[in-house]
Amino acid sequence: MSPDDSFSRWIAALEAKHFAELTFPEVSRALRALSSTYVERRRKLAQGAALSGAGKRAAFALFYGPLHHLLVQHIAANLPGATRCPSTLVDLGCGTGASGAAWAHACTNSTRVIGIDRHPWALGEAADTYRTFGIPATVRQGDVATVKLPAAPAAMLAAFTVNELDAPARDALLPRLLDRARRGDRLLIIEPLAGFVAPWWNTWREAFEAAGGRADEWRLRTALPPIVEKLDRAAGLNHREITGRSLWLAA
Ligand SMILES: C[S@@+](CC[C@H](N)C(=O)[O-])C[C@H]1O[C@@H](n2cnc3c(N)ncnc32)[C@H](O)[C@@H]1O
Repeated sequence: MSPDDSFSRWIAALEAKHFAELTFPEVSRALRALSSTYVERRRKLAQGAALSGAGKRAAFALFYGPLHHLLVQHIAANLPGATRCPSTLVDLGCGTGASGAAWAHACTNSTRVIGIDRHPWALGEAADTYRTFGIPATVRQGDVATVKLPAAPAAMLAAFTVNELDAPARDALLPRLLDRARRGDRLLIIEPLAGFVAPWWNTWREAFEAAGGRADEWRLRTALPPIVEKLDRAAGLNHREITGRSLWLAA
């Protein structure tokens, strides 16, 4: 099965699931509310505001999930060595599993995923996503700041997650991840390009670079699934270009 087949099956399954409960206008209205939570009501993110309500959850799954997947697929394919994976990949703040599935699916060897999220709804979605991509996986409810992690070496992915942590949790996570990298973990952190989303980025970037890692910015123009394009237009957004930035550290 080619990656595209899995991706198309995943999108079809998401549409079937979420439009069984909600209409297109309901989802696109919720997408507007969700994007305003990400932009204007950021302080509510740490309280889980992004995934409050069925509409926002559907909008996240159908819209941001596929965008994150396409971006992470692109990043994994373009970072030197990123497709050689340890046997375990930890998807920190896995959400619907979109990003973890993209990286695991890009790996040239088989890797099992452990998806960790504090939100029970996300864990159910992530389990469905990993299954659709044929990736062996388990999901666990937990706080990424304190959760017990599997033995190193593992691949650690935090895609669009660190910006949702409060400052003490974020500050504690950085040395923990760097310590794991010294024991053989590969670290991939992904966040939006917009500076206001991640004011801590330069501190993290300097720490990754000092440890021998790298920072990159990404701009990807690719065909979007029709449902993503339609939601983009209906919610007045513009994702003809998918952008993001990453920190990468691999021993
Ligand atoms: C913007 S979503 C990104 C999801 C996924 N990584 C992706 O790329 O699509 C952020 C996720 O992090 C989770 N999250 C935020 N803070 C968390 C914490 N302290 N512990 C565990 N999960 C957390 C949220 O529940 C949400 O599912």
